[in-house]
Amino acid sequence: MQEPWWKRSTVYQIYPKSFNDTTASGMGDLQGVIEKLDYLKELGVDMLWLTPIYRSPQRDNGYDISDYYDIEPAYGTMEDVERLVQGLHDRDMKLMMDIVINHTSTDHKWFQQAKTSKDNPYRDYYIWRDSSDGNAPNNWVSKFGGSAWALEEHTDQYYLHLFDKTQADLNWENDEVRNQLYEMMNFWADKGLDGFRLDVINLVSKVQSFPYDESAPDGQFGKEYYTDGPRIHEFMKEMNQNVFAPHNLVTVGEMSSTSLAACQQYTRPGANELDMTFNFHHLKADYEKGKKWTDGKLDFIKLKQILADWQIGMHQAGGWNALFWCNHDQPRIVSRFGDDNLYHRESAKMLATVMHMMQGTPYIYQGEEIGMTDPKFSSIEYYNDVETQNAYSELKESGMDDRAVMQIIQRRSRDNSRTPMQWNAAQHAGFSKGEPWLSVAANYKEINAEKALADDNSIFYHYQTLIRLRKEYAIITHGDYEPLCMEDERIFSYERRWNGEKLLVIANFFGESTEFTYPKKEIGEAEILLSNYQDSAPNYSKVQLRPFEAIIYYSKS
Ligand code: GLC
Repeated sequence: MQEPWWKRSTVYQIYPKSFNDTTASGMGDLQGVIEKLDYLKELGVDMLWLTPIYRSPQRDNGYDISDYYDIEPAYGTMEDVERLVQGLHDRDMKLMMDIVINHTSTDHKWFQQAKTSKDNPYRDYYIWRDSSDGNAPNNWVSKFGGSAWALEEHTDQYYLHLFDKTQADLNWENDEVRNQLYEMMNFWADKGLDGFRLDVINLVSKVQSFPYDESAPDGQFGKEYYTDGPRIHEFMKEMNQNVFAPHNLVTVGEMSSTSLAACQQYTRPGANELDMTFNFHHLKADYEKGKKWTDGKLDFIKLKQILADWQIGMHQAGGWNALFWCNHDQPRIVSRFGDDNLYHRESAKMLATVMHMMQGTPYIYQGEEIGMTDPKFSSIEYYNDVETQNAYSELKESGMDDRAVMQIIQRRSRDNSRTPMQWNAAQHAGFSKGEPWLSVAANYKEINAEKALADDNSIFYHYQTLIRLRKEYAIITHGDYEPLCMEDERIFSYERRWNGEKLLVIANFFGESTEFTYPKKEIGEAEILLSNYQDSAPNYSKVQLRPFEAIIYYSKS
Protein backbone atom coordinates (compact mmCIF):
# COMPACT_ATOMS: atom_id res chain seq x y z
CA MET A 1 0.00 0.00 0.00
CA GLN A 2 1.23 3.45 -0.81
CA GLU A 3 2.13 5.52 2.23
CA PRO A 4 -0.42 8.31 2.77
CA TRP A 5 1.17 11.71 2.11
CA TRP A 6 0.19 13.11 5.49
CA LYS A 7 2.40 10.65 7.33
CA ARG A 8 5.49 12.61 6.31
CA SER A 9 3.85 15.98 6.57
CA THR A 10 3.72 18.76 9.09
CA VAL A 11 0.63 20.86 9.68
CA TYR A 12 0.56 24.52 10.69
CA GLN A 13 -2.37 25.78 12.68
CA ILE A 14 -3.69 29.25 12.01
CA TYR A 15 -5.97 31.11 14.38
CA PRO A 16 -7.09 33.70 11.83
CA LYS A 17 -8.35 36.17 14.38
CA SER A 18 -4.80 36.65 15.65
CA PHE A 19 -2.73 35.95 12.56
CA ASN A 20 -2.57 38.95 10.24
CA ASP A 21 -4.96 41.86 9.86
CA THR A 22 -5.05 43.58 6.45
CA THR A 23 -8.04 45.84 7.09
CA ALA A 24 -7.02 47.55 10.35
CA SER A 25 -10.11 46.07 12.01
CA GLY A 26 -8.00 44.73 14.86
CA MET A 27 -8.96 41.18 13.86
CA GLY A 28 -6.97 39.07 11.43
CA ASP A 29 -8.51 38.01 8.12
CA LEU A 30 -8.25 35.58 5.23
CA GLN A 31 -6.40 38.02 3.04
CA GLY A 32 -3.89 38.21 5.88
CA VAL A 33 -3.34 34.48 5.66
CA ILE A 34 -2.90 34.65 1.90
CA GLU A 35 -0.27 37.36 2.37
CA LYS A 36 1.82 35.06 4.53
CA LEU A 37 1.79 31.94 2.41
CA ASP A 38 5.38 32.42 1.29
CA TYR A 39 6.48 32.67 4.90
CA LEU A 40 4.76 29.35 5.62
CA LYS A 41 6.23 27.76 2.52
CA GLU A 42 9.66 28.85 3.71
CA LEU A 43 9.03 27.12 7.03
CA GLY A 44 8.23 24.01 5.00
CA VAL A 45 4.83 23.02 6.33
CA ASP A 46 2.58 20.96 4.07
CA MET A 47 -0.87 21.88 5.22
CA LEU A 48 -2.68 24.63 7.08
CA TRP A 49 -5.38 24.02 9.64
CA LEU A 50 -7.60 27.05 9.82
CA THR A 51 -9.72 27.42 12.96
CA PRO A 52 -13.38 28.28 12.24
CA ILE A 53 -14.07 31.19 9.92
CA TYR A 54 -17.79 30.61 9.50
CA ARG A 55 -20.43 33.14 10.47
CA SER A 56 -20.48 33.34 14.24
CA PRO A 57 -21.35 35.72 17.08
CA GLN A 58 -17.77 35.03 18.28
CA ARG A 59 -18.77 34.21 21.81
CA ASP A 60 -16.23 31.38 21.60
CA ASN A 61 -14.23 32.88 18.73
CA GLY A 62 -15.93 30.98 15.95
CA TYR A 63 -16.51 27.67 17.72
CA ASP A 64 -20.08 28.90 18.00
CA ILE A 65 -21.26 28.74 14.39
CA SER A 66 -24.46 30.50 13.39
CA ASP A 67 -24.23 29.75 9.66
CA TYR A 68 -22.11 26.92 8.27
CA TYR A 69 -22.49 28.19 4.72
CA ASP A 70 -21.24 31.71 5.23
CA ILE A 71 -17.98 33.38 6.19
CA GLU A 72 -17.71 35.67 9.17
CA PRO A 73 -17.62 39.10 7.47
CA ALA A 74 -14.62 40.30 9.49
CA TYR A 75 -12.60 37.44 7.96
CA GLY A 76 -13.60 38.09 4.37
CA THR A 77 -15.70 36.34 1.78
CA MET A 78 -16.21 32.99 0.12
CA GLU A 79 -14.01 34.23 -2.73
CA ASP A 80 -11.21 34.75 -0.22
CA VAL A 81 -11.50 31.13 0.84
CA GLU A 82 -11.30 30.08 -2.80
CA ARG A 83 -8.26 32.31 -3.31
CA LEU A 84 -6.64 30.81 -0.25
CA VAL A 85 -7.19 27.27 -1.51
CA GLN A 86 -5.75 28.31 -4.87
CA GLY A 87 -2.78 30.05 -3.26
CA LEU A 88 -2.00 26.97 -1.26
CA HIS A 89 -2.39 24.53 -4.12
CA ASP A 90 -0.17 26.71 -6.31
CA ARG A 91 2.53 26.25 -3.69
CA ASP A 92 1.90 22.54 -3.35
CA MET A 93 0.36 23.06 0.06
CA LYS A 94 -3.00 21.99 1.44
CA LEU A 95 -5.89 23.26 3.51
CA MET A 96 -7.68 21.66 6.42
CA MET A 97 -10.80 23.37 7.71
CA ASP A 98 -12.02 23.19 11.25
CA ILE A 99 -15.54 21.92 11.57
CA VAL A 100 -17.66 22.21 14.71
CA ILE A 101 -20.54 19.76 14.65
CA ASN A 102 -21.02 18.76 18.25
CA HIS A 103 -22.93 22.00 18.73
CA THR A 104 -24.05 25.17 16.99
CA SER A 105 -24.44 28.69 18.23
CA THR A 106 -27.87 29.38 19.71
CA ASP A 107 -28.02 32.06 16.99
CA HIS A 108 -28.12 29.34 14.32
CA LYS A 109 -31.45 29.25 12.51
CA TRP A 110 -32.01 25.65 13.59
CA PHE A 111 -31.87 26.64 17.23
CA GLN A 112 -33.85 29.80 16.67
CA GLN A 113 -36.59 27.59 15.25
CA ALA A 114 -36.18 24.82 17.78
CA LYS A 115 -36.70 27.03 20.77
CA THR A 116 -40.05 28.40 19.60
CA SER A 117 -42.15 25.33 20.50
CA LYS A 118 -41.93 21.68 21.41
CA ASP A 119 -43.60 20.83 18.10
CA ASN A 120 -41.28 22.77 15.89
CA PRO A 121 -39.70 20.49 13.24
CA TYR A 122 -36.24 21.62 14.40
CA ARG A 123 -36.93 20.90 18.07
CA ASP A 124 -35.36 17.47 17.81
CA TYR A 125 -32.17 18.89 16.29
CA TYR A 126 -31.07 19.64 19.85
CA ILE A 127 -31.23 17.86 23.18
CA TRP A 128 -34.13 18.88 25.41
CA ARG A 129 -35.14 17.51 28.78
CA ASP A 130 -37.62 18.44 31.50
CA SER A 131 -36.39 19.68 34.81
CA SER A 132 -35.82 17.26 37.62
CA ASP A 133 -37.61 18.50 40.74
CA GLY A 134 -37.26 22.09 39.68
CA ASN A 135 -33.55 21.69 38.88
CA ALA A 136 -31.53 20.87 35.80
CA PRO A 137 -32.26 17.38 34.36
CA ASN A 138 -29.04 15.95 35.82
CA ASN A 139 -25.75 17.06 37.40
CA TRP A 140 -23.61 17.18 34.26
CA VAL A 141 -21.33 20.19 34.10
CA SER A 142 -20.24 22.32 31.21
CA LYS A 143 -16.56 22.28 30.24
CA PHE A 144 -16.65 26.03 30.65
CA GLY A 145 -18.02 25.84 34.22
CA GLY A 146 -21.51 25.61 35.75
CA SER A 147 -24.36 23.29 34.74
CA ALA A 148 -24.39 21.78 31.24
CA TRP A 149 -28.11 22.58 31.00
CA ALA A 150 -29.77 25.89 30.33
CA LEU A 151 -33.44 26.57 30.80
CA GLU A 152 -35.37 27.82 27.80
CA GLU A 153 -38.12 29.62 29.63
CA HIS A 154 -40.73 29.90 26.93
CA THR A 155 -41.09 26.12 26.46
CA ASP A 156 -39.96 25.36 30.01
CA GLN A 157 -37.38 22.76 29.05
CA TYR A 158 -33.63 22.58 29.36
CA TYR A 159 -31.23 22.17 26.44
CA LEU A 160 -27.81 20.56 26.77
CA HIS A 161 -24.63 22.58 26.24
CA LEU A 162 -21.35 20.87 27.03
CA PHE A 163 -19.60 24.21 26.40
CA ASP A 164 -20.97 27.75 26.70
CA LYS A 165 -24.73 28.18 27.05
CA THR A 166 -24.72 29.80 23.60
CA GLN A 167 -23.30 26.54 22.17
CA ALA A 168 -26.22 24.09 22.09
CA ASP A 169 -25.37 20.42 21.56
CA LEU A 170 -26.82 18.87 18.43
CA ASN A 171 -28.86 15.70 18.68
CA TRP A 172 -26.87 13.14 16.71
CA GLU A 173 -29.54 10.49 17.31
CA ASN A 174 -31.61 12.36 14.75
CA ASP A 175 -30.74 11.04 11.26
CA GLU A 176 -31.78 14.29 9.67
CA VAL A 177 -29.23 16.21 11.74
CA ARG A 178 -26.42 13.96 10.65
CA ASN A 179 -27.50 14.13 7.02
CA GLN A 180 -27.64 17.91 7.12
CA LEU A 181 -24.14 17.99 8.58
CA TYR A 182 -22.75 15.64 5.94
CA GLU A 183 -24.34 17.70 3.20
CA MET A 184 -22.76 20.83 4.61
CA MET A 185 -19.35 19.17 4.86
CA ASN A 186 -19.65 18.03 1.28
CA PHE A 187 -20.37 21.59 0.26
CA TRP A 188 -17.01 22.55 1.78
CA ALA A 189 -15.19 19.57 0.40
CA ASP A 190 -16.43 20.54 -3.06
CA LYS A 191 -14.57 23.82 -2.68
CA GLY A 192 -11.41 21.80 -3.04
CA LEU A 193 -10.11 21.73 0.48
CA ASP A 194 -8.04 18.78 1.54
CA GLY A 195 -9.15 17.85 5.01
CA PHE A 196 -11.08 18.50 8.17
CA ARG A 197 -10.14 18.98 11.78
CA LEU A 198 -13.17 17.82 13.70
CA ASP A 199 -13.85 19.76 16.85
CA VAL A 200 -14.54 17.69 20.01
CA ILE A 201 -15.86 14.98 17.74
CA ASN A 202 -15.75 12.22 20.34
CA LEU A 203 -18.50 13.94 22.34
CA VAL A 204 -21.29 13.64 19.78
CA SER A 205 -22.81 10.36 20.98
CA LYS A 206 -24.44 10.66 24.39
CA VAL A 207 -25.87 7.95 26.63
CA GLN A 208 -29.54 8.50 25.97
CA SER A 209 -30.78 7.95 29.50
CA PHE A 210 -28.70 10.99 30.56
CA PRO A 211 -27.93 9.49 33.97
CA TYR A 212 -26.99 11.34 37.10
CA ASP A 213 -23.21 11.07 37.52
CA GLU A 214 -22.40 9.64 40.96
CA SER A 215 -18.69 10.49 40.96
CA ALA A 216 -16.16 12.51 39.01
CA PRO A 217 -12.83 13.01 40.79
CA ASP A 218 -11.86 15.87 38.46
CA GLY A 219 -15.26 17.54 38.93
CA GLN A 220 -16.28 16.90 35.29
CA PHE A 221 -19.63 15.31 36.09
CA GLY A 222 -21.23 13.61 33.11
CA LYS A 223 -18.00 13.03 31.20
CA GLU A 224 -18.20 9.24 31.15
CA TYR A 225 -21.67 9.41 29.59
CA TYR A 226 -20.77 11.46 26.56
CA THR A 227 -17.06 10.79 25.92
CA ASP A 228 -16.41 8.21 23.16
CA GLY A 229 -20.11 7.38 23.59
CA PRO A 230 -22.16 4.34 22.57
CA ARG A 231 -22.63 5.09 18.85
CA ILE A 232 -19.44 7.07 18.21
CA HIS A 233 -17.69 4.54 15.97
CA GLU A 234 -20.85 3.97 13.97
CA PHE A 235 -21.15 7.73 13.43
CA MET A 236 -17.51 8.09 12.40
CA LYS A 237 -17.83 5.29 9.85
CA GLU A 238 -20.97 6.84 8.50
CA MET A 239 -19.36 10.25 8.16
CA ASN A 240 -16.32 8.71 6.53
CA GLN A 241 -18.49 6.94 3.99
CA ASN A 242 -20.60 10.02 3.27
CA VAL A 243 -17.94 12.72 3.29
CA PHE A 244 -14.29 11.74 3.73
CA ALA A 245 -13.91 8.77 1.43
CA PRO A 246 -15.65 10.27 -1.64
CA HIS A 247 -13.39 13.34 -1.45
CA ASN A 248 -10.27 11.59 -0.27
CA LEU A 249 -9.92 13.94 2.68
CA VAL A 250 -7.43 13.79 5.50
CA THR A 251 -9.04 13.98 8.92
CA VAL A 252 -7.94 14.66 12.45
CA GLY A 253 -10.33 14.32 15.34
CA GLU A 254 -10.01 16.40 18.45
CA MET A 255 -10.62 13.89 21.22
CA SER A 256 -11.59 15.26 24.56
CA SER A 257 -10.59 13.09 27.58
CA THR A 258 -10.38 10.05 25.35
CA SER A 259 -8.59 6.72 25.85
CA LEU A 260 -5.81 5.02 23.96
CA ALA A 261 -8.12 2.12 23.15
CA ALA A 262 -10.67 4.46 21.60
CA CYS A 263 -8.05 6.28 19.50
CA GLN A 264 -6.61 2.99 18.30
CA GLN A 265 -10.08 2.13 17.15
CA TYR A 266 -10.67 5.46 15.41
CA THR A 267 -7.45 5.32 13.42
CA ARG A 268 -6.37 1.70 12.96
CA PRO A 269 -6.10 0.46 9.38
CA GLY A 270 -9.41 -0.67 8.01
CA ALA A 271 -11.41 1.24 10.61
CA ASN A 272 -12.58 3.72 7.99
CA GLU A 273 -13.19 6.34 10.65
CA LEU A 274 -10.48 9.01 11.04
CA ASP A 275 -6.87 9.33 9.96
CA MET A 276 -5.47 10.62 13.22
CA THR A 277 -6.41 11.96 16.62
CA PHE A 278 -5.40 14.66 19.06
CA ASN A 279 -5.47 13.69 22.69
CA PHE A 280 -4.57 15.89 25.63
CA HIS A 281 -3.31 13.56 28.33
CA HIS A 282 0.29 14.77 28.07
CA LEU A 283 -0.90 18.35 28.53
CA LYS A 284 -2.46 17.47 31.86
CA ALA A 285 0.82 16.35 33.41
CA ASP A 286 1.01 19.71 35.17
CA TYR A 287 -2.59 19.72 36.40
CA GLU A 288 -3.19 19.17 40.08
CA LYS A 289 -5.48 16.14 40.53
CA GLY A 290 -6.54 16.42 36.90
CA LYS A 291 -7.88 19.93 37.41
CA LYS A 292 -6.97 22.64 34.94
CA TRP A 293 -7.50 25.77 37.03
CA THR A 294 -4.79 24.98 39.54
CA ASP A 295 -1.19 26.01 39.99
CA GLY A 296 0.07 22.42 39.60
CA LYS A 297 3.68 21.42 39.03
CA LEU A 298 4.86 19.41 36.04
CA ASP A 299 5.11 15.70 36.81
CA PHE A 300 7.94 15.00 34.37
CA ILE A 301 8.02 11.23 34.83
CA LYS A 302 4.31 11.11 34.15
CA LEU A 303 4.70 13.24 31.03
CA LYS A 304 7.25 10.81 29.63
CA GLN A 305 5.11 7.82 30.54
CA ILE A 306 2.01 9.20 28.85
CA LEU A 307 3.82 10.07 25.65
CA ALA A 308 5.52 6.66 25.62
CA ASP A 309 2.23 4.82 26.16
CA TRP A 310 0.63 6.65 23.24
CA GLN A 311 3.65 6.21 20.99
CA ILE A 312 3.86 2.49 21.64
CA GLY A 313 0.11 1.88 21.78
CA MET A 314 -0.70 3.64 18.53
CA HIS A 315 2.29 2.08 16.78
CA GLN A 316 1.20 -1.42 17.79
CA ALA A 317 -2.35 -0.85 16.62
CA GLY A 318 -1.23 0.73 13.35
CA GLY A 319 -3.03 3.91 14.39
CA TRP A 320 -1.75 7.44 14.00
CA ASN A 321 -1.11 10.28 16.45
CA ALA A 322 -1.35 13.99 15.82
CA LEU A 323 1.74 15.34 17.64
CA PHE A 324 1.59 18.70 19.34
CA TRP A 325 2.55 20.87 22.27
CA CYS A 326 0.57 23.96 21.35
CA ASN A 327 -2.79 25.01 20.01
CA HIS A 328 -5.27 27.82 20.49
CA ASP A 329 -6.53 26.30 23.74
CA GLN A 330 -3.16 25.73 25.37
CA PRO A 331 -0.58 27.99 26.96
CA ARG A 332 2.66 28.52 25.03
CA ILE A 333 4.94 25.53 25.47
CA VAL A 334 8.15 27.54 25.91
CA SER A 335 6.56 29.31 28.87
CA ARG A 336 4.98 26.15 30.17
CA PHE A 337 7.63 23.42 30.02
CA GLY A 338 10.61 25.47 28.83
CA ASP A 339 12.26 28.66 30.03
CA ASP A 340 10.93 31.74 28.26
CA ASN A 341 13.65 33.88 29.75
CA LEU A 342 17.27 32.79 30.09
CA TYR A 343 17.10 29.72 27.84
CA HIS A 344 14.34 30.83 25.52
CA ARG A 345 16.02 29.65 22.35
CA GLU A 346 17.51 26.45 23.72
CA SER A 347 14.38 25.30 25.48
CA ALA A 348 12.07 26.09 22.55
CA LYS A 349 14.32 24.04 20.26
CA MET A 350 14.57 21.22 22.78
CA LEU A 351 10.80 20.94 23.08
CA ALA A 352 10.40 20.96 19.32
CA THR A 353 13.02 18.23 18.92
CA VAL A 354 11.43 15.94 21.49
CA MET A 355 8.01 16.18 19.85
CA HIS A 356 9.01 16.15 16.18
CA MET A 357 11.09 12.99 16.31
CA MET A 358 8.11 10.95 17.48
CA GLN A 359 5.80 8.93 15.27
CA GLY A 360 2.77 10.82 14.02
CA THR A 361 1.96 14.02 12.19
CA PRO A 362 3.30 17.14 13.94
CA TYR A 363 1.19 20.26 14.29
CA ILE A 364 2.83 23.64 14.81
CA TYR A 365 0.68 26.41 16.21
CA GLN A 366 1.25 29.93 14.83
CA GLY A 367 4.09 31.67 16.63
CA GLU A 368 5.44 28.45 18.11
CA GLU A 369 8.08 28.45 15.37
CA ILE A 370 9.47 31.72 16.69
CA GLY A 371 9.10 30.81 20.35
CA MET A 372 6.19 33.08 21.23
CA THR A 373 5.49 33.18 24.96
CA ASP A 374 2.55 33.60 27.32
CA PRO A 375 1.83 37.33 27.68
CA LYS A 376 1.37 37.21 31.48
CA PHE A 377 -1.19 40.02 31.50
CA SER A 378 -1.41 41.71 34.87
CA SER A 379 -5.16 41.99 35.15
CA ILE A 380 -8.28 40.07 34.14
CA GLU A 381 -9.39 42.98 31.94
CA TYR A 382 -6.79 41.99 29.36
CA TYR A 383 -8.27 38.52 29.00
CA ASN A 384 -11.09 37.96 26.57
CA ASP A 385 -11.74 34.20 26.54
CA VAL A 386 -15.12 33.02 27.83
CA GLU A 387 -13.64 30.03 29.64
CA THR A 388 -11.04 32.26 31.34
CA GLN A 389 -13.67 34.75 32.43
CA ASN A 390 -15.83 31.99 33.92
CA ALA A 391 -12.86 30.42 35.69
CA TYR A 392 -11.86 33.79 37.10
CA SER A 393 -15.32 34.30 38.61
CA GLU A 394 -15.42 30.79 40.02
CA LEU A 395 -11.97 31.08 41.60
CA LYS A 396 -12.83 34.45 43.10
CA GLU A 397 -16.10 33.10 44.45
CA SER A 398 -14.20 30.25 46.10
CA GLY A 399 -12.55 32.89 48.28
CA MET A 400 -9.06 32.90 46.75
CA ASP A 401 -7.29 36.26 46.76
CA ASP A 402 -6.79 38.12 43.51
CA ARG A 403 -3.06 37.60 43.32
CA ALA A 404 -3.38 33.83 43.58
CA VAL A 405 -6.24 33.81 41.09
CA MET A 406 -4.26 35.86 38.57
CA GLN A 407 -1.30 33.55 38.91
CA ILE A 408 -3.49 30.65 37.81
CA ILE A 409 -5.12 32.68 35.03
CA GLN A 410 -1.72 33.73 33.69
CA ARG A 411 -0.61 30.12 33.53
CA ARG A 412 -3.76 28.49 32.21
CA SER A 413 -5.73 30.93 30.11
CA ARG A 414 -6.42 30.02 26.50
CA ASP A 415 -5.60 33.62 25.61
CA ASN A 416 -1.95 32.75 26.23
CA SER A 417 -1.82 31.39 22.73
CA ARG A 418 -4.27 33.83 21.19
CA THR A 419 -2.29 37.05 21.42
CA PRO A 420 -1.52 38.47 17.98
CA MET A 421 1.20 36.89 15.89
CA GLN A 422 4.47 38.78 16.28
CA TRP A 423 5.65 39.64 12.79
CA ASN A 424 8.09 42.48 13.42
CA ALA A 425 9.08 45.25 15.81
CA ALA A 426 6.57 47.78 14.44
CA GLN A 427 3.51 48.88 16.35
CA HIS A 428 1.27 45.97 17.45
CA ALA A 429 4.03 43.66 16.26
CA GLY A 430 3.05 44.31 12.66
CA PHE A 431 -0.16 42.35 13.21
CA SER A 432 -2.57 45.23 12.66
CA LYS A 433 -2.73 48.91 11.90
CA GLY A 434 -5.78 49.14 14.14
CA GLU A 435 -6.26 48.33 17.80
CA PRO A 436 -5.85 44.53 18.18
CA TRP A 437 -8.81 42.63 19.65
CA LEU A 438 -6.39 41.16 22.20
CA SER A 439 -3.18 42.87 23.33
CA VAL A 440 0.15 41.89 21.85
CA ALA A 441 2.68 40.31 24.24
CA ALA A 442 5.18 42.88 25.49
CA ASN A 443 8.24 41.03 24.14
CA TYR A 444 7.42 41.46 20.42
CA LYS A 445 10.49 43.58 19.77
CA GLU A 446 12.75 40.68 20.71
CA ILE A 447 10.55 37.83 19.57
CA ASN A 448 9.20 38.25 16.05
CA ALA A 449 9.24 36.56 12.65
CA GLU A 450 11.37 39.18 10.92
CA LYS A 451 14.13 38.76 13.47
CA ALA A 452 13.87 35.00 13.35
CA LEU A 453 14.23 34.94 9.56
CA ALA A 454 17.36 37.09 9.73
CA ASP A 455 19.12 34.78 12.20
CA ASP A 456 20.50 31.45 10.93
CA ASN A 457 20.46 30.05 14.41
CA SER A 458 16.86 30.95 15.21
CA ILE A 459 14.08 28.72 16.49
CA PHE A 460 12.41 29.16 13.10
CA TYR A 461 15.24 27.40 11.27
CA HIS A 462 15.30 24.64 13.84
CA TYR A 463 11.66 23.89 13.06
CA GLN A 464 12.43 24.12 9.36
CA THR A 465 15.11 21.46 9.79
CA LEU A 466 12.84 19.18 11.80
CA ILE A 467 10.20 19.37 9.07
CA ARG A 468 12.81 18.55 6.44
CA LEU A 469 14.26 15.63 8.43
CA ARG A 470 10.83 14.01 8.57
CA LYS A 471 10.74 14.05 4.79
CA GLU A 472 14.31 12.74 4.40
CA TYR A 473 14.35 9.99 7.00
CA ALA A 474 11.66 7.36 6.68
CA ILE A 475 12.54 6.06 10.14
CA ILE A 476 10.82 9.09 11.67
CA THR A 477 7.59 8.00 10.05
CA HIS A 478 7.93 4.26 10.45
CA GLY A 479 10.24 3.45 13.34
CA ASP A 480 9.05 1.95 16.59
CA TYR A 481 9.48 3.77 19.90
CA GLU A 482 11.50 2.70 22.88
CA PRO A 483 11.63 5.07 25.83
CA LEU A 484 14.96 5.33 27.66
CA CYS A 485 15.89 6.68 31.10
CA MET A 486 12.27 6.65 32.21
CA GLU A 487 13.12 7.16 35.86
CA ASP A 488 15.53 10.02 35.18
CA GLU A 489 14.26 13.29 36.64
CA ARG A 490 15.89 15.47 33.98
CA ILE A 491 16.38 13.56 30.75
CA PHE A 492 13.84 12.87 28.02
CA SER A 493 15.25 10.19 25.77
CA TYR A 494 13.99 7.63 23.32
CA GLU A 495 15.11 5.47 20.49
CA ARG A 496 13.41 4.66 17.20
CA ARG A 497 14.35 1.64 15.10
CA TRP A 498 13.43 0.62 11.59
CA ASN A 499 14.97 -1.33 8.78
CA GLY A 500 18.48 -1.48 10.30
CA GLU A 501 18.43 2.22 11.15
CA LYS A 502 18.43 3.81 14.55
CA LEU A 503 17.46 7.26 15.72
CA LEU A 504 18.33 8.30 19.24
CA VAL A 505 16.99 11.44 20.87
CA ILE A 506 18.59 12.74 24.05
CA ALA A 507 17.23 15.86 25.68
CA ASN A 508 17.88 17.66 28.91
CA PHE A 509 14.40 18.91 29.80
CA PHE A 510 15.65 21.36 32.42
CA GLY A 511 17.92 24.35 32.98
CA GLU A 512 20.68 22.59 34.94
CA SER A 513 23.40 20.48 33.34
CA THR A 514 23.11 16.75 33.68
CA GLU A 515 24.79 13.58 32.52
CA PHE A 516 23.33 11.06 30.12
CA THR A 517 24.54 7.48 30.10
CA TYR A 518 23.38 5.28 27.27
CA PRO A 519 21.76 2.30 28.99
CA LYS A 520 22.67 -0.34 26.37
CA LYS A 521 25.90 -2.10 25.45
CA GLU A 522 26.11 -0.83 21.86
CA ILE A 523 28.99 1.36 20.71
CA GLY A 524 27.86 4.93 20.95
CA GLU A 525 29.09 6.56 17.72
CA ALA A 526 26.64 8.14 15.37
CA GLU A 527 25.98 11.02 13.05
CA ILE A 528 24.34 14.03 14.65
CA LEU A 529 21.31 15.06 12.61
CA LEU A 530 20.51 18.09 14.70
CA SER A 531 21.37 19.70 18.00
CA ASN A 532 20.49 22.98 19.68
CA TYR A 533 24.12 23.61 20.64
CA GLN A 534 26.95 24.11 18.14
CA ASP A 535 29.34 21.42 19.35
CA SER A 536 27.41 18.48 20.75
CA ALA A 537 29.35 15.27 21.41
CA PRO A 538 29.34 12.68 18.58
CA ASN A 539 29.71 9.81 21.03
CA TYR A 540 26.55 9.20 22.98
CA SER A 541 27.77 6.55 25.44
CA LYS A 542 28.14 9.30 27.98
CA VAL A 543 27.08 12.87 27.27
CA GLN A 544 27.35 15.93 29.46
CA LEU A 545 24.17 17.74 28.61
CA ARG A 546 24.03 21.49 28.96
CA PRO A 547 20.82 23.32 29.93
CA PHE A 548 18.02 22.17 27.61
CA GLU A 549 20.48 20.52 25.25
CA ALA A 550 18.80 18.20 22.75
CA ILE A 551 20.58 15.99 20.23
CA ILE A 552 19.35 13.67 17.49
CA TYR A 553 21.72 10.81 16.60
CA TYR A 554 21.30 8.66 13.54
CA SER A 555 23.04 5.43 12.61
CA LYS A 556 22.62 2.60 10.16
CA SER A 557 23.93 -0.91 10.64
C1 GLC B 1 -12.57 22.69 21.13
C2 GLC B 1 -11.91 23.93 20.61
C3 GLC B 1 -12.14 25.04 21.60
C4 GLC B 1 -13.62 25.27 21.72
C5 GLC B 1 -14.35 23.98 22.09
C6 GLC B 1 -15.82 24.11 21.90
O1 GLC B 1 -12.00 22.23 22.29
O2 GLC B 1 -10.57 23.68 20.35
O3 GLC B 1 -11.48 26.21 21.24
O4 GLC B 1 -13.88 26.23 22.70
O5 GLC B 1 -13.94 22.91 21.28
O6 GLC B 1 -16.15 24.17 20.54
